[in-house]
Amino acid sequence: MTNKMWGGRFSSAPAEIMEEINASIDFDKRLYAHDIRGSIAHCKMLGETGIISADDSNNIVQGLNKILSEIEDGTFEFSRSLEDIHMNIESRLMEMIGPVAGKLHTARSRNDQVATDFRLFVRETIDHIDRQLHDLQVQLSHKANTYAAAPMPGFTHLQVAQPVTFGHHCLAYVEMISRDRGRFQDARKRLNENPLGSSALAGTSFPIDRDFTSKELEFDRPTANSLDAVSDRDFVLETLAAATITAMHLSRLAEEIVVWVSAQFGFISLSDAFTTGSSIMPQKRNPDAAELVRAKSGRLLAAFTSLIVTLKGLPLAYSKDMQEDKEATFDALDNLSLCIAAMTGMVADMQVDTNMMKKSAGSSYSTATDLADWLVRVLNLPFRQAHGITGQIVSLAAERKIPLHRVPLDDMQKIEANITEDVFDVLTVANSLRSRTSFGGTAPKNVRRAAKSWIKKLEKEG
Ligand code: ARG
Repeated sequence: MTNKMWGGRFSSAPAEIMEEINASIDFDKRLYAHDIRGSIAHCKMLGETGIISADDSNNIVQGLNKILSEIEDGTFEFSRSLEDIHMNIESRLMEMIGPVAGKLHTARSRNDQVATDFRLFVRETIDHIDRQLHDLQVQLSHKANTYAAAPMPGFTHLQVAQPVTFGHHCLAYVEMISRDRGRFQDARKRLNENPLGSSALAGTSFPIDRDFTSKELEFDRPTANSLDAVSDRDFVLETLAAATITAMHLSRLAEEIVVWVSAQFGFISLSDAFTTGSSIMPQKRNPDAAELVRAKSGRLLAAFTSLIVTLKGLPLAYSKDMQEDKEATFDALDNLSLCIAAMTGMVADMQVDTNMMKKSAGSSYSTATDLADWLVRVLNLPFRQAHGITGQIVSLAAERKIPLHRVPLDDMQKIEANITEDVFDVLTVANSLRSRTSFGGTAPKNVRRAAKSWIKKLEKEG
């Protein structure tokens, strides 16, 4: 049997292997709701403009709604020989209402149809991800507020560098996620144009009303060039780029969680809800969810890479290569959504050991910069010179295996004669933190203000 949708000039059926490579129904059936929504908008427009009769239009719309329920209640039978979601639905419509179903495809092609479906899908997914990222920001901001003054070591090179607060660290991720959300919103703005009516590639001779379908489908406007509309997928690329960057951010937090829960750090613990045991080592509690979030960023980048390579060098307009845009995108966005949910759960779940963090915050001469700053501020030394003096004091302390604030004043004075008793004030973690009041700095009062302002802002978003 030849294909009943396009088999007019064919006399025999495709080879089995042809069907195997060509059919997309196994994965694009996921677009059924978007496909039907697009078809209903198109069909209403055909009725409104008088391209088909109002009766035919109503008939078709009714049929499409019935198909929607069939798919939703699981009674619809998908067929591979009908290739894709578009033809599966149209064929069922034909069975249901007869040849009048064939009028639906007037002034339309699968090329503008699939471009429309995919835009609707990606737009909806962006909105869902935005909501999830909002919820993750809420969790992080509350943690930040609770731990606005809780000292933890700030690291560079994963070496203790200067004290910060745990709240400050949490808010760093709130900022990252806010930019991630911004990138998704930028992508959404640009994707929100309606390809429907571009037809196969050149537009159509029928007097269609593209503003009508744009409004029905909540697009801002129709796309301005029919060739561009059916052949570009940059809206998917932009979304995958935003998704990849988000996943990269999540993977950094995931890695920190893995490090923090280790016995060597002991900064936080995760409950049974977000850890797993070992089948051989009874004592183990592994942060698998965090490790998987860390790992999954790879497949996000893979999806982006796969699509950009698929599109590179493709001549205008549509080529079947573009059917390869879907599977990796579904996989990437599904996994991102899963990662955000897991991360939100872990942030809510984590128990913070403020004592361990505090102890570590004061280790490894973390207030050495405060000492150097004191020499600059009080003794008016150039910073480079202060840096050198501090280095000598640190190495003295290291030799004797004592913290900076235990180095006797006269030993410090042997290195720099003008140092006074006052210097000890800046060597404590609490004072170091309190002094970091520059805008964006880690002083607890800054952090509390920033956390509260985020909480308010996020609440306003609803
Ligand atoms: N299944 C196809 C896809 O996803 C739909 C468009 C087919 N268009 C065509 N000219 N064969 O890309």
